[in-house]
Amino acid sequence: MTRKLAAGNWKMNGTRAALEDLNAIIAAHSDPSVDILICPPATLLMQAAALTADKPLDIGAQDCHPAASGAHTGDTSAPMVADAGGTAVIVGHSERRENHNENNTLVQSKAQAAHDAGLIAVICIGETLDEREAGQTLDIIAKQLSGSIPDGATPYNTVIAYEPVWAIGTGKVATLEQIAEVHDFIRKSLIDRFGAAAQDMRILYGGSVKPGNAADIFGVSNVDGALVGGASLKQSDFTPIINALE
Ligand code: G3H
Repeated sequence: MTRKLAAGNWKMNGTRAALEDLNAIIAAHSDPSVDILICPPATLLMQAAALTADKPLDIGAQDCHPAASGAHTGDTSAPMVADAGGTAVIVGHSERRENHNENNTLVQSKAQAAHDAGLIAVICIGETLDEREAGQTLDIIAKQLSGSIPDGATPYNTVIAYEPVWAIGTGKVATLEQIAEVHDFIRKSLIDRFGAAAQDMRILYGGSVKPGNAADIFGVSNVDGALVGGASLKQSDFTPIINALE
């Protein structure tokens, strides 16, 4: 049985001073009953991994290239993330899908690269507001699930993060009913494809998760944790979210 997961995505935020917040998170969670993952910007990956090397807290990257090495200026490969001390990598975040034209095929190849490097792939999916209002949410989720997850996915190498695009960084949170509908659909889809073992594949909710709404969200069926953006930047915000999951 996999544990619940509180994941923080710092996005393009944080210089070395941000490591003070990482130290504060480490200090506040010396023996957590849930998994904690922090994904800082690439510039802080090695330092963050060094700080947490003997702590119950994992460090991950926010993206990786599908190739292991080569002429890809500005990119980071999955083996490089592993070499830096990372144990996971976020792939397919909606900001990457939108700003870098990433489609499901590319996301799947990045997730495969993560698996090949021994990393956990945190595969992000989610509908836009237009898609939701057009009644296409579950169709979009189904396509993203089938197109973005590699065949070799297991509960140990893959985490799914459902992030409605319209709820990211906007302060708008999906209703508990909307979250339940999509998470239940994701669980059923995973079991249909990967069998009963997929009952243990973690499904995170992301999108304006805050200390004030975390407990309610974590009470929804098939929510196994959260992928937190803004509220993961400060220990004083992230700790109550972790505590709500414990
Ligand atoms: O990766 C995290 C998500 O994009 C959520 O970001 O918590 O700032 O809305 P947010």
